[in-house]
Amino acid sequence: MKKPVKVAITGAAGQIAYSLIFRIASGSMLGPDQPVILQLLDIPDSLEKLKGTVMEIDDCAFPLVSGVVATADPMEAFDGTDYALLVGARPRGPGMERKDLLTANGAIFVPQGKALAAKASRDVKVLVVGNPANTNALIAASAAKSLDPKQFTAMVRLDHNRAISQLATKTGVSGNDIDKIIIWGNHSSTQYPDITSTTVAGKPAKSLVDQQWIESDFIPTVQQRGAAIIKARGLSSAASAASAAVDHMRDWALGTNGKWVSMGIPSDGSYGIKPGVVYGYPVTCKDGKYEIVQGLPIDAFSRARMDATDAELREERAAIEDLLA
Ligand code: NAD
Ligand code: LMR
Repeated sequence: MKKPVKVAITGAAGQIAYSLIFRIASGSMLGPDQPVILQLLDIPDSLEKLKGTVMEIDDCAFPLVSGVVATADPMEAFDGTDYALLVGARPRGPGMERKDLLTANGAIFVPQGKALAAKASRDVKVLVVGNPANTNALIAASAAKSLDPKQFTAMVRLDHNRAISQLATKTGVSGNDIDKIIIWGNHSSTQYPDITSTTVAGKPAKSLVDQQWIESDFIPTVQQRGAAIIKARGLSSAASAASAAVDHMRDWALGTNGKWVSMGIPSDGSYGIKPGVVYGYPVTCKDGKYEIVQGLPIDAFSRARMDATDAELREERAAIEDLLA
């Protein structure tokens, strides 16, 4: 067995965390030989509920759980943390866009970014799940002065997984047969799910589906999937969001073996997206680091969509400029 690592989860009394904590505790994220100390953060009003979750963690007698901390103090929750999953934030309801949460949720990420900078491991990997995830990641990174902004990422993996599932169903293969799918930009309805480079069991996806399906079915279905789930469930996605968070962190920590995944990361000018936003890019991960897949041809159809989602991210940034350090 390896030495335990510390995993912080915020919003730990909430619905995503109720799935996420148990997946992490059972080894799905960091592997079956990696013990974890769970550092669970929620607000004071939710601590009683969190107590119940902690009792359930205890009752699972997970061999990999070396300790559990439950607290309302970010300084305690992020003390020495190696992995931080920032889930705690208000979810949207029916008829809202995720950016409508900007004012309510943005402010959460300033103190959390500061606490991470003060207390977390210098190598901490941060994943922001709380919406609007890309801009919240920007806020947290900006507040965490002593950490590298590249340590702050936002979750577009749920969109990536949704895109795989839609294409797999359409082409009659398993999701495992699909590679090189991309979510560009924002985790919002402007995101651009792109199958230009995608392969399905080794064949180009574009040779198997027509442009009409891509434009009128695939792209809008992936863009609107969160809203469709809210409509059906009366609550936003939880188990699939937790599963995507596990996938994102596992791949970042343990590597993708050459497969492409989509991560929201600080833009660096790649593909014409100027620095200043957290943007969904295709990446590969190796040795605990991610790298943008470079050199892809971008046609006019893709360019327009990549720029539209970039413009939305810059509008979100302008709306919270006062929160950026
Ligand atoms: P939830 O309401 O069930 O749980 C949120 C929890 O966060 C609550 O327990 C609340 O007390 C806690 N919280 C609020 N402020 C906090 C703070 N400052 N510090 C710590 N905890 C705090 O919500 P949920 O369904 O678990 O969703 C959480 C967030 O994740 C929402 O913003 C939702 O929109 C977002 N989400 C993102 C994705 C994605 O793909 N990026 C997917 C699904 C949901
Ligand atoms: C999702 O994509 O399911 C989440 O971001 C929740 C939402 O508000 O759509």
